[in-house]
Amino acid sequence: MNIRCARVDDLMSMQNANLMCLPENYQMKYYFYHALSWPQLSYIAEDHKVVLTILFCYNLFFFQGNVVGYVLAKMEEDPGEEPHGHITSLAVKRSYRRLGLANKMMDQTARAMVETYNAKFVSLHVRVSNRAALNLYKNTLKFEIVDTEPKYYADGEDAYAMRRDLAKWA
Ligand code: ACO
Repeated sequence: MNIRCARVDDLMSMQNANLMCLPENYQMKYYFYHALSWPQLSYIAEDHKVVLTILFCYNLFFFQGNVVGYVLAKMEEDPGEEPHGHITSLAVKRSYRRLGLANKMMDQTARAMVETYNAKFVSLHVRVSNRAALNLYKNTLKFEIVDTEPKYYADGEDAYAMRRDLAKWA
């Protein structure tokens, strides 16, 4: 298993993993927005199985590892606030869970946010019912709940707004 910074040619595999794992899905232009604006911040986990990807529209093909998990991340651009990162989406495919991949990708992203953008903290939203993710964020990564946002999700579920202090990475 290998964890590395995501490249533009990983974006379709990331979108595919997102569609398999989460109801919150995004258009490809939103993945490009992340990759082109903050190329240091998003990470993928890949296994050794080689996949041939063909982009018919551009007459391109390339071999790459099989993406089994991703973290899609960005910086928030509110000039009134301290510089901070935001986790847009995180997922690991079902048969690759509980191997520490999400933990490692989140740490890589946090380090890149500090080293590249001097981020002071990282934020995210998570469904109040998402026990696995809440365990990861609260117990393993030491995020704190800072707010509850009612009906944040399209189906009406509330979200916890969470933050992780990045002072220890500075
Ligand atoms: N139940 C309880 N605790 C869990 C679980 C679980 N199913 N999964 C992870 N944890 C906790 C444990 O404390 C675990 O440590 P341990 O294995 O030593 O006990 C710790 O988190 C670290 O787990 P990882 O192995 O790093 O997590 P994993 O790679 O399995 O990925 C994730 C966790 C991303 C939540 C995965 O279950 C997943 O993809 N779920 C579906 C998508 C999802 O919910 N994504 C997050 C949405 S919020 C957002 O995107 C901002």
